[in-house]
Amino acid sequence: MPTAISEPQVLKAEILELVRRYYQQAHPAKPFIPGKTRIQYSGRVYDAQELVNAVDASLDFWLTAGSYTEAFERKMQAFFGANGFLLVNSGSAANLLMVATLCSPEISSLLGADDLPPLKPSDEVITPAVTFPTTLAPIIQQRLVPVFVDCVVGTYNVDPALVDQAIGPNTRALFLPHTLGNPFDVAAIMEIAKRRRLWLLEDGCDALGATFEGRLVGTFGAMSSLSFYPAHQMTMGEGGGVVVNHARLKKTARSIRDWGRDCWCDPGKSNTCGKRFGWQLGDLPFGYDHKYVYSNIGYNLKPTDLQAAIGVAQSDKIASFIEARRGNFRRLYDGLADLQEYLVLPQVDPRANPSPFGFPVTVREGIERTNLIRHLEAANIETRLVFGGNILRQPGFLNIERRVAGDLSQSDVIMRQTLFVGVAPAIIPEMVDYMIETFHSFFNR
Ligand SMILES: Cc1ncc(COP(=O)(O)O)c(C=O)c1O
Repeated sequence: MPTAISEPQVLKAEILELVRRYYQQAHPAKPFIPGKTRIQYSGRVYDAQELVNAVDASLDFWLTAGSYTEAFERKMQAFFGANGFLLVNSGSAANLLMVATLCSPEISSLLGADDLPPLKPSDEVITPAVTFPTTLAPIIQQRLVPVFVDCVVGTYNVDPALVDQAIGPNTRALFLPHTLGNPFDVAAIMEIAKRRRLWLLEDGCDALGATFEGRLVGTFGAMSSLSFYPAHQMTMGEGGGVVVNHARLKKTARSIRDWGRDCWCDPGKSNTCGKRFGWQLGDLPFGYDHKYVYSNIGYNLKPTDLQAAIGVAQSDKIASFIEARRGNFRRLYDGLADLQEYLVLPQVDPRANPSPFGFPVTVREGIERTNLIRHLEAANIETRLVFGGNILRQPGFLNIERRVAGDLSQSDVIMRQTLFVGVAPAIIPEMVDYMIETFHSFFNR
């Protein structure tokens, strides 16, 4: 017997069909007019499915993390072949969650004999001076001490030899970004982490889909973060994720995301453990409702299901998004290759396949970066700097407790002389050619 389709289901199908039609009318592709069309360095790329999913989640009106969140987490866990994947509300939240997890005293009871101990206040974490502020912020917020190492012009990543030299008696962890989607030397860093017994966290916010020796970055460290802000390889507006590679960190990471509670029920569920009123934990009376037992000092970092719904649609397009970025990156590289007397072009480790976030160039001594930026912006080509530059020169970070290993001269060069332009999938080959032409006209070539 065929089951009857209910009135709401019929209405929903009609609404979603209307959304598809709306998309065709309201979001048409716009022609590219050189000099007039703004070439944004990145931004949302989507089709009707993202709108359909967003409306579907709205009609469902579950609002908080729900079935789309579950579906997205399952999909991303499989994508990375990870032990877990936690969706959160930003890449910054993902970074905070990772550091807070390593600082949780709870993990000592969950880790094995050969695991590293949790981080405690005053432990040192090595991180690059050229960084995104919310890669560094959680280290400070968790009362750890950042140890800064210089970055390399060209790769914009850390030099593993400097990381090795920076390790002191209190160093317990490395927190390293794959800057602008360009993998750092994972082989050397993994060797150091193992030999010196350090936790490794990867900031993979800019690097979804990048590989090192054929393996996805984000799968090497104990955990790795992702950002789904619109500038990134895929988006849900605001959003982020934690790839949990170390299985024994999964419970704690989830707990800290979800208010710090001990209970692991999904939103709306109540007795997943089967003994909701049968636990004896802390100094609580026996049977205290497990939903209100807090084994960690946590946050609420969950996304809404509307965000996840958009993410589910976007995640089907990851491969094509990355391919488009790589194509634009190659085209720009080839087109700017004859300007190397003026510009340092990006350098990639031969073992790596980046998932480019942007195309960085460093102007050589004697060339005024601001003039180049003005020239590009006047031609409607959007430019960006490498985030905070040498972050220690940022007003909010001047007085932080820190250790600086070696000098940060290259980081200062990056702060003064580097900029990047976009390679996002919305940038079509004609735009790339126009960008190449505009770089050339600046140097009268
Ligand atoms: C390397 C890096 N880490 C963290 C973040 C923070 O991500 P979000 O903007 O989603 O908080 C960004 C944002 O661009 C980033 O580039």
